[in-house]
Order: sequence, then C-alpha cells, then structure tokens
Amino acid sequence: MAKSRPVAAVILAAGQGTRMKSSKPKVAFEICGWPMVRHVVDAVRTLKPAKTVVVVGHGRDEVKAALDGAGPVTFAVQKQQNGTADAVEAALPSLKGFDGTVLVLCGDVPLVRPETLTALLDAHRRAKASASILSVTLADGGRYGRIVRGTQHEFVRIVEAKDATPNELAIREINTGLYAFEARDLGSAIRKVGNKNAQGEYYLTDVPEILLAEGLRVQAVAAGSADEVLGVNTFAELADAGARMRDRILVSFMTAGVEVRDPSTTWIDRGVTIGRGTRVLPCTMIERDVEIGQGCEVGPFAHVRPGTVLEDGAEIGNFVETKKARVGKHTKAKHLTYLGDAVIGAHTNIGCGTITANYDGKKKHLTVIGDRVHIGSGTVLVAPVTVGRDATTGAGAIVTAGRDVAPGDVVVGVPARSIRKGSTR
Ligand code: UD1
Ligand code: CA
Repeated sequence: MAKSRPVAAVILAAGQGTRMKSSKPKVAFEICGWPMVRHVVDAVRTLKPAKTVVVVGHGRDEVKAALDGAGPVTFAVQKQQNGTADAVEAALPSLKGFDGTVLVLCGDVPLVRPETLTALLDAHRRAKASASILSVTLADGGRYGRIVRGTQHEFVRIVEAKDATPNELAIREINTGLYAFEARDLGSAIRKVGNKNAQGEYYLTDVPEILLAEGLRVQAVAAGSADEVLGVNTFAELADAGARMRDRILVSFMTAGVEVRDPSTTWIDRGVTIGRGTRVLPCTMIERDVEIGQGCEVGPFAHVRPGTVLEDGAEIGNFVETKKARVGKHTKAKHLTYLGDAVIGAHTNIGCGTITANYDGKKKHLTVIGDRVHIGSGTVLVAPVTVGRDATTGAGAIVTAGRDVAPGDVVVGVPARSIRKGSTR
C-alpha cells in the first residue's frame, strides 16, 4: 500500500452565483437543512484533514456563518474573484509549511461522497502523481471543462467549454472540479497560470498542464457517479441536488432499520438521528437537529422542526408541528397540535388541537408537562406554565401563564380553574 501522506483541503466558495439573482452567496443556500458548502466540509471531514481552508469572497460573512457548527475550518479571503487558480492561491498562505496532498473542491458541488474522495486520494498515492483530477463521463459534457487525452489515453490537458473547439466539445469525460495536488508542486505552478482565455480568468484547470510540462506525473481519475459532479448554479439545480441528497438520506435510514412508507413525500434533513423500528408516514418533514428514538411513529403530515427530541415509542401524528420540544417515552400527540419550547413527560396524551402558546410577542417561554398527563382537546397552554404529573385539562381549557396545574388536578374552562384536587399528591 502506498504510504499515506497528510491531507489538507481547500474548498472554493468565493464566487457570487449570479444565476440565482440573489445577493445571498450561492454556497449558503440550503440542501436538506445544511448550507451547500457544509455538505462539502462534512464530506472532507471524514478524511481527517490536517487543515480545511474555505476560500471566501462574495458575501464572506454569510458563508462563514453558514459554516457555524461544521467543525474546524480556516477561512482565506479572495478579494476579487479572478478565477479558480486565483482562489487556490488565496488559500496558500494558510497552508504555509504544509507538506502533503492538497485536495481542492468546490463549495457549489455539494453531492460529493467521502468514498469518492478516498478513491481519488488512493489513486493519487498509488500513481505517486503530482496532480490527480477527478473526472466523470456524462451523456453530454454541457458547460463543464473537458478532459483531453492523448493517443495512449494519457491525460493531456483540461479545456474549458467556453474555450473548446467543436471536436473538444464532443468529449464526454469532464472535469468535476475536484483535484488532489502535491503541495510542494502546487504554488509555483499556480503562479505560472495566465488569463488569456474566453473569460479572462486565472483557471485552476491550467495547472495540470503546467505540471506535466515540468515533467511531473498528472492523471485524470474516473471515479464517482454523475450526480456527484452536479454543480449548483440555479434554483432548479438547487432543487435537483436537494432531491438527490434527500433520496440518499432516506435510503441510509431505511438501511438502518427505519420504515419510510413513502419516500417520495418524505423529507429528512442532515443532522437527524432516528432509532430502529420507527415508522415515518407520508408527507412528513423532519428538519435538522432532531433526535428520534426507537419505535416511534411520525406522520402522516407531521412537521418536526429543529430541537425536537422524540423519546422511544413517542407518536406524532397528522398536522402536528414540534419545535424545541422533548416528547417523553410513549407520549402521543396525534392530531392538529403545536408543541414548541416544551418538555413533556412519558405516557402523556396530548389531545387534538392542543397549542403551547410559547410566544408572548416578545419572548419565547417554556411549557412543562409531566408524566401520564391527559391534555384535553383544544387546550391552550400559555407559557410559561407547568402541568404536573397525572393532571388533566378539560376540552377547550386555557391554562394561563404562571397558573401551574398541580399534580393530579383536573382543570377546566377559560381561564382554567381546578375542579378536582389531585389525589396523587
Ligand atoms: C469549474 C472548472 C470546470 C469544471 C467545473 C466543475 C475552472 C476554470 N473550471 O468551472 O473545468 O468542469 O468547475 O464544476 O476551474 N470560485 C472562487 N473564486 C473565483 C472563481 C470561482 O472561489 O474567482 C469558486 C466558485 O465559488 C465555485 C468554484 O470556485 O465554488 C467553481 O467556480 P465556477 O466559476 O463555478 O467554475 P465553473 O465554471 O463551474
Ligand atoms: Ca460551478
């Protein structure tokens, strides 16, 4: 086996994304709950890189914010977007003294898989190459750069679609924009890149040819699948990439023992855990930062938002929305309910049409509901409020803020008052 060398990653994310007609930087748009660029950072993280440098420029503060919580990354600023070679050059000071392999990726190519990165690196090491370009063969090369090969099938150069001859445009093997470079060769080659091309930009795609001319080994490695190369430039492509990511996420949950009744109407974000034996019923959306235990039932038509925890056996049904809510073991909220900023115990039943009124117009407040509580249909719980264990609220009760319900009590009416004191106290 080839000796492994340390790896650093450079992710290019300084471009504007003009085709989205938005002031928001392209790589900050979300796919399955994460900004596009975070998916790339996450794929890279599995390689345990010595350093991950994200090159930012356009909307840099938004891109930085988009990577909050994504793990350790270093930001390098590219002041003007003069091309992909210029962008990598902007990252080089952050890699000073690094001697190893530099993986270059694009922040707008979010479907890249860790396995593909590993395959590229393995091929790079085996060949002792100075540069390895990840390529893929498409039915139509579209606007991607083409891989030009020689008579022995050897790599010759990359030509951008805008600079290609008709013959070159017919080539179907394209540049994914993902590369492995040896750090020690990269800097001097980048400085030799010129900008005499159709776009007047400094192309990173010229670097392989420069390295070849220096007598170094360069190869194009065909690995990965066509969807991994999908660059997202428009909202249509964003939706397409989102759907593909969604399918992948659903397949991985189903493989892990989660029943997804109708994948075509189910959305589950990244950053979600679901235990075995849980059933997810049609038309359900489960957003990021959600934990669902084993043997739960979610949906149909449920909206599970960030910060929700469903403990084992909990059930969330039709038109139920949860947000920052912990739902205890075997607790059920089956119909037309909003549970936000709530902590609910075990074996409690939340009746149809229950609302935790968590927002007073200025601040969000907490609702606490104990074990074995029976919340009657149409109850409004005006937070902050606590309903003690074994208590009951009557249908249509409005439990007002601060008027806690004692354990075992039965309360009814508007505002709710106790009609029976708890026997469990
Ligand atoms: C690039 C490749 C092309 C490849 C395609 C794959 C070049 C010249 N071309 O084309 O061969 O098929 O990717 O998707 O590299 N960026 C910066 N700073 C810049 C310019 C770009 O950070 O000055 C970033 C962009 O934000 C983007 C990435 O680099 O994340 C790629 O740039 P983009 O302009 O989209 O290149 P493509 O035309 O797609
Ligand atoms: Ca692109």
